[in-house]
Amino acid sequence: MRGLEGKGVLIVGGTSGIGLATARRFLEEGSRVFVAGHDEAELKETRATLTELGAIDGLVGDVSVEDDVETIVRGATASLSRIDVLINNAGVAHKAPFLETATEAWDRTIAVNLRGMFLVARAVGRLMAADGAGGAIVNMASTNALGGEELYTAYNASKGGVLQLTRTMAVELGSAGIRVNCLCPGFIDTPLNRGLEDETWIRTYEREHIPLGRRGRADEVAAAYAFLASEEASFIHGAALVIDGGQTAVM
Ligand SMILES: NC(=O)c1ccc[n+]([C@@H]2O[C@H](COP(=O)([O-])OP(=O)(O)OC[C@H]3O[C@@H](n4cnc5c(N)ncnc54)[C@H](O)[C@@H]3O)[C@@H](O)[C@H]2O)c1
Repeated sequence: MRGLEGKGVLIVGGTSGIGLATARRFLEEGSRVFVAGHDEAELKETRATLTELGAIDGLVGDVSVEDDVETIVRGATASLSRIDVLINNAGVAHKAPFLETATEAWDRTIAVNLRGMFLVARAVGRLMAADGAGGAIVNMASTNALGGEELYTAYNASKGGVLQLTRTMAVELGSAGIRVNCLCPGFIDTPLNRGLEDETWIRTYEREHIPLGRRGRADEVAAAYAFLASEEASFIHGAALVIDGGQTAVM
């Protein structure tokens, strides 16, 4: 894809699932990659797996903690010289009926998925705006930003927030040459939802809800990240790109 070779790419939530596939994709495009994640072992494994593809470095931290975010962004800047692309991907999911959603689970989901996304985007946006060289930021929302899936109150609310965060960032940062978009994937096969649903449930869900008849793969979302960060998307700004096998097209 045009415009990714040699670019410095920070992938937060880049050590598992979609983020890991995205790190692979950017390395294949010739970008230099810095990944951050919440788990030391996952980070080690990611670097060991991807190191043969190109320059990859990383740090562990919690995106809901402002000091951790500053450390990650400082580390990425030192490693990459400049962050040209931010893939703002870290997230968790919590499944519970609305009436039984515990306050702690609500707080944690919002803290990681919305506060974390804001802290990371603001830290990187400030750097991009300060040196005037622009950049591309892609936040991770979800189809759960577009409709209220049952049993996912906190997750839906957090992702709806990411959609509006993205639009507001686009409105304010466009004049600084910083393009901001978000992704809205549907059901993607990753450790996140493998931990929440069993295989029988997933098979039925694929048949009944997804016109393409299957869940998505992490590399199919990684391709969308690469596209939105690339020169091919130079006039795409403030958009929410749906990647869901047709799920939200169903009446
Ligand atoms: N899998 C899906 O069906 C799906 C669909 C739509 C959106 N998403 C979103 O895509 C993103 C990636 O999800 P995934 O399915 O690949 O999940 P995953 O669990 O495989 O990966 C999550 C990543 O986020 C990181 N992370 C989690 N909590 C963190 C924290 N507090 N601080 C820093 N990093 C943290 C993890 O270390 C990991 O790298 C999430 O934002 C998720 O909400 C997933």
